Amino acid sequence: MFQHMTALPPDPLLGIAVAFRADSNPKKVDLGVGVYKTEDGKTPILTSVQKALQTLLNTEDSKSYIQARGNQAFLDGMEKLVFGADNALLTSGRVESLQAPGGTGSLRIGFELIKRGNPNAKIWVSSPTWANHVALIKATGLEVAEYPYYDKTNNQLKADEMLETLAQLGPNDVVLLHGCCHNPTGEDLTPELWTKISDLAVEKGFVPFVDIAYQGFGVDLETDVAGVRELLSKVPEALIATSCSKNFGLYRERTGILTSVSESPVLAGAALSHMLNIAREIYSMPPSYGGAAVGILLADEALTAEWKTELAEMCSRMIDLRALLVNKIHERGVEEDFSFINRQKGMFTFLGITPEQVQSIRDEYAIYMAGSSRINIAGVSSSNVDYLADAIAATLKK
Ligand code: LMR
Repeated sequence: MFQHMTALPPDPLLGIAVAFRADSNPKKVDLGVGVYKTEDGKTPILTSVQKALQTLLNTEDSKSYIQARGNQAFLDGMEKLVFGADNALLTSGRVESLQAPGGTGSLRIGFELIKRGNPNAKIWVSSPTWANHVALIKATGLEVAEYPYYDKTNNQLKADEMLETLAQLGPNDVVLLHGCCHNPTGEDLTPELWTKISDLAVEKGFVPFVDIAYQGFGVDLETDVAGVRELLSKVPEALIATSCSKNFGLYRERTGILTSVSESPVLAGAALSHMLNIAREIYSMPPSYGGAAVGILLADEALTAEWKTELAEMCSRMIDLRALLVNKIHERGVEEDFSFINRQKGMFTFLGITPEQVQSIRDEYAIYMAGSSRINIAGVSSSNVDYLADAIAATLKK
């Protein structure tokens, strides 16, 4: 059965972590996989999340299955975070959610749901997008296409080209949008573009699928989803995949949620039945731990307030690191203007250097980033920023 198998190359992002671990250079810097790190390079459990986990440990009295759609407090709390607590959609019967294993699990179920709705649907992803988006879509057999998004030469959005492409689409098309903190570029849609895309979706009939994995990492919890909320207020149908990996720091607990917005409560019920059926065919029941902890946290006002403070601290640290890195690079007299890094949001930014320069920085300085030159801003710290800026400046001046 397996005699003819040959080994695959490492995953483009996860492979960086493996190579980093194997590097013995004491000065090595990891700017690869999108995991938040503190000043001393650690990824601790958030205190608010730790308290919720402790409550869970003290109160959980069974390891029997949870309901197939997931923990109810988790589903309710997460829907309110994305839609806004008083959003009339949440009581309209048109919204249904399923707890899934991480943002990735949510995306996969979403693509399978699209395939059941329309096997000929084409999924449009931003150019560039998170590498795994394309793999997830291809795994379902659906067709993938790209819409223009980011101009790597001038470090800015390709807004006009993007809108021109979206204006050509119709009801057989699904447009995958990053809710905020675009991965990999850090370049977000402006409020005006959210309005234009929402109006185009209504006019042309394409279905938006929003991936929102970094709510609270850009500006704040509310501002980061303002565009998404406008979109949801206008379109008849949408899908949203949400992750608790980053903003709750629950990476390894695989905690995510897929939400569908349908035209009527009857259609919403049908969509949910398919979501449940798809999950049953892949992994049967959702994992409980992460969702239960988030459910406890979001149902508790004091814990929620504590979590919001911790989230705001992570966000402002990343904003400060952006400014620090830009200053350090410019202090070294490089010709290129890196101030775009300050405008970008969330965990990632594209340095805009070539794959050869990325490789040379890795070989000479043991600084690891994605081949696209995407860096994880949270991997920068006051102790490595000079070393990093030296490496970038020296590589650019070669
Ligand atoms: C990333 O983009 O680095 C993260 O979302 C982690 C992953 O799974 O790729």
